[in-house]
Amino acid sequence: MIDVATLPVNKQFTRRLIKPDTWIINCYDPNLAAPHPHLLVGGERALLIDPTWTKLPLRRYIEECVTDKPLLVANTHSHLDHTNANWMFNDLPIYMSEIAWQELQARRQLSDEEGRWQGHPKGDYTARILKPGDKLDLGGGRVVEILPYEGSHSAGSLLYLDRAQRVLFTGDEIECGQMLVSGRPGSTNTVEKLLRNLTALEEGWGDAFDFICPAHNGSPVHASFLDHLIENCRRILSGIQGDLDVGSMTYLYNPLEDRPAGSVRRAIEDPTTRRSEWQGSSIVYNTQRIFDSQL
Ligand SMILES: [Fe+2]
Repeated sequence: MIDVATLPVNKQFTRRLIKPDTWIINCYDPNLAAPHPHLLVGGERALLIDPTWTKLPLRRYIEECVTDKPLLVANTHSHLDHTNANWMFNDLPIYMSEIAWQELQARRQLSDEEGRWQGHPKGDYTARILKPGDKLDLGGGRVVEILPYEGSHSAGSLLYLDRAQRVLFTGDEIECGQMLVSGRPGSTNTVEKLLRNLTALEEGWGDAFDFICPAHNGSPVHASFLDHLIENCRRILSGIQGDLDVGSMTYLYNPLEDRPAGSVRRAIEDPTTRRSEWQGSSIVYNTQRIFDSQL
């Protein structure tokens, strides 16, 4: 077996153009569900959305093979699979929400194992905070706008709207493999809240994007996927139960997922979680957190 880390940098990554000057980067990873960084190249600057958790030299690849524009970095949320490789960009502006920054700082206090740093340095940077309405100007008329969105997957999530190319970058808030809204014990994520968020997104900004770019299982996806997710939420709220088996080939049944021993069996057998599939969308939710009134 060839050690990919020993290959020239252009062999460790591939990239796919999804809109003019808009790339999805594939970092070599046998895990089918691994997240993908997205790179938006403007007239003066380029924006990297989610460095992910790759251990390969992502920065070198971008700077040597993709663009010589100065880089900005932004995270959709704090989860380790989106942020563990942030350290590679320590000296550059790294943007995220206030909540995501607090979560990351808390994780820095944990041991490497507890914080699941996976051998990555914890990063020696101070995040720049973004809030809804803020804009990142990449030059040449390309401006990326932060949309108001109450995270249903992670409280610290931000959605990035590229009005010029009509693309919305959603991290894990809109996801093709499965929307994970079951959350941890004590979570306030409900299906009702997800529906409220998705409906507000569609009503407020639905005419501003043609494609959605989730991080993990399929990017880009057509904007009409949002309608399928909204219908899926309405079905759950109407009492239609999802499948007791919440696993899929990219979640729990994926043998390459980094999960603590025993957690997969517990998650699959958990009687309170369900998976609702509808028109190619999937929502993994908790039956005790369908309605806000259950909280
Ligand atoms: Fe996540």
